[in-house]
Amino acid sequence: MGSLCLVLMVLQLSWSLSSSVPPPSSHLCLPHQRDALLHFKTTISVDCDFYHDDGYRDPYPRIDIESWNKSIDCCSWKGVKCNNVTGHVIGMDLSHSCLVGSLFANNSLFQLHNLQWLDLSSNNLRGSLLENTSSLFHFHGLRRLNLADNGFDGIISSKLFSQLVSLTHLNLSYNGFFDDNESYLRFDGHGFDMLARNLTKLRNLVLDTVDMSDVALTSLLNLSSSLEHLSFSWCQLHGEFPTQAFQLPNLKVLDLSGNENLAGYLPNTNWSSGLELLDLSECGFKGSIPASCGNLTQIISVGLEGNSLEGQIPDVFGNLRKLTSLSFSSCNLSGPLPITIFNLTKITHLDLSYNHLEGPFPNHWWSTILAVYSAISSTVGAQL
Ligand SMILES: *[C@@H]1O[C@H](CO)[C@@H](O)[C@H](O)[C@H]1NC(C)=O
Ligand SMILES: *[C@@H]1O[C@H](CO)[C@@H](O)[C@H](O)[C@H]1NC(C)=O
Ligand SMILES: *[C@@H]1O[C@H](CO)[C@@H](O)[C@H](O)[C@H]1NC(C)=O
Ligand SMILES: *[C@@H]1O[C@H](CO)[C@@H](O)[C@H](O)[C@H]1NC(C)=O
Ligand SMILES: *[C@@H]1O[C@H](CO)[C@@H](O)[C@H](O)[C@H]1NC(C)=O
Ligand SMILES: *[C@@H]1O[C@H](CO)[C@@H](O)[C@H](O)[C@H]1NC(C)=O
Ligand SMILES: *[C@@H]1O[C@H](CO)[C@@H](O)[C@H](O)[C@H]1NC(C)=O
Ligand SMILES: *[C@@H]1O[C@H](CO)[C@@H](O)[C@H](O)[C@H]1NC(C)=O
Ligand SMILES: *[C@@H]1O[C@H](CO)[C@@H](O)[C@H](O)[C@H]1NC(C)=O
Ligand SMILES: *[C@@H]1O[C@H](CO)[C@@H](O)[C@H](O)[C@H]1NC(C)=O
Ligand SMILES: *[C@@H]1O[C@H](CO)[C@@H](O)[C@H](O)[C@H]1NC(C)=O
Ligand SMILES: *[C@@H]1O[C@H](CO)[C@@H](O)[C@H](O)[C@H]1NC(C)=O
Repeated sequence: MGSLCLVLMVLQLSWSLSSSVPPPSSHLCLPHQRDALLHFKTTISVDCDFYHDDGYRDPYPRIDIESWNKSIDCCSWKGVKCNNVTGHVIGMDLSHSCLVGSLFANNSLFQLHNLQWLDLSSNNLRGSLLENTSSLFHFHGLRRLNLADNGFDGIISSKLFSQLVSLTHLNLSYNGFFDDNESYLRFDGHGFDMLARNLTKLRNLVLDTVDMSDVALTSLLNLSSSLEHLSFSWCQLHGEFPTQAFQLPNLKVLDLSGNENLAGYLPNTNWSSGLELLDLSECGFKGSIPASCGNLTQIISVGLEGNSLEGQIPDVFGNLRKLTSLSFSSCNLSGPLPITIFNLTKITHLDLSYNHLEGPFPNHWWSTILAVYSAISSTVGAQL
């Protein structure tokens, strides 16, 4: 009996001892990675006093890197995500964090070789990060990279895409700066070709305003069939857009707007059947609108304004029940109004202006238009 009491007492003692002594290292974060992050912090400043491309200014940093503190485990810092077993930093999201400064190849940020996602979008960062000697080459496991809406410039090296082959999401849109000279991101002759061939897991590719004038459009044929979101607006694409690119099986979003010298034809068959958004406005597409459009049953928005189309609009909208926005403005279309459009109940934006369309306007739409007009008139106090 006495010995049992002793055993219990010893157990009690060792229990209270072990709970008062902290484990050898309570920090998951690896010291050299923490130091790399702290050094990165010293190379940039935080200043919310600048405006983004869309005229918006962040009122305060979404992630305040000033709060990164050595006495706290860096895996708990805001914007930092670690692997919970190895402690490696695997993710950083510092978007909209008012970061200002230049990132050079020697920045300690690029020592975080285990990064799987990096989001620096919507800051005021500069540098030619994507050139031949890019330190991004070290991020072999990178899956998502978002550098959009910053001041990055320079040539996007083809070599980058022999390294970053695991990418599923790449967003480089709205970069460049405009001091004395304008400077943008630009693909070198082989850059896009290499991207299309090597990035076989790519799902989202967003390159709006990147200079793609050197890109051969046939490279698009090599793009991964896993692509869901393709956005190349205002990219200076020119030449004939390959019709097969409308047939990527998983495509949901296709935005080629603002490429005035991009020509091509809409496909007569085999559209990507899950297409939800199609924006080809202000391009140089030719020919007529094919009846195959009537098969796009998932479509929500279509923008075709400002193309050189011809002929009549096929009356095939009856099954496009999700359609909310449709514009065929300034397309040189002729013939009767496609009356199936007027039976769609979700349409909130319809623009058929500047064409040569004719025919009766459905009666039930007159009542809708008069009701809207009367509502607007009464809010502005006009007389109907
Ligand atoms: C870091 O955290 C410690 C403990 O919470 C605190 O005393 C110190 O002031 C903090 N340092 C900074 C720079 O925020
Ligand atoms: C560690 O991470 C894995 C994968 O993200 C997750 O499934 C698991 O629940 C995490 N474990 C702990 C203890 O947080
Ligand atoms: C990093 O590179 C930049 C530009 O090449 C240079 O100005 C800077 O001194 C370098 N910094 C360090 C710590 O080597
Ligand atoms: C990048 O490197 C390749 C060979 O490694 C070279 O042919 C090319 O001219 C370089 N491009 C630039 C912009 O330096
Ligand atoms: C790409 O970045 C821009 C600018 O930050 C953002 O508006 C857009 O939603 C992003 N696109 C995707 C698909 O993540
Ligand atoms: C990337 O593409 C180049 C040229 O097509 C090829 O030589 C290289 O093996 C590819 N790398 C990977 C990892 O697919
Ligand atoms: C602008 O471009 C011109 C000619 O290319 C060059 O001489 C000048 O140094 C550039 N200015 C700046 C600020 O980069
Ligand atoms: C790329 O496209 C070309 C032309 O269509 C084709 O010959 C080649 O096999 C394709 N390469 C890959 C990797 O898909
Ligand atoms: C359309 O798809 C079918 C089935 O996948 C295929 O046999 C046909 O060749 C395709 N047509 C065109 C014009 O691509
Ligand atoms: C619509 O799709 C069906 C089934 O894939 C096909 O048989 C039909 O020809 C298509 N219609 C048009 C106008 O492309
Ligand atoms: C508009 O279409 C007519 C034929 O319908 C054609 O003669 C004319 O050239 C077209 N105009 C433009 C600007 O494409
Ligand atoms: C449109 O709807 C009206 C009333 O709901 C119906 O009478 C008419 O047949 C429909 N028209 C078409 C082309 O579907």
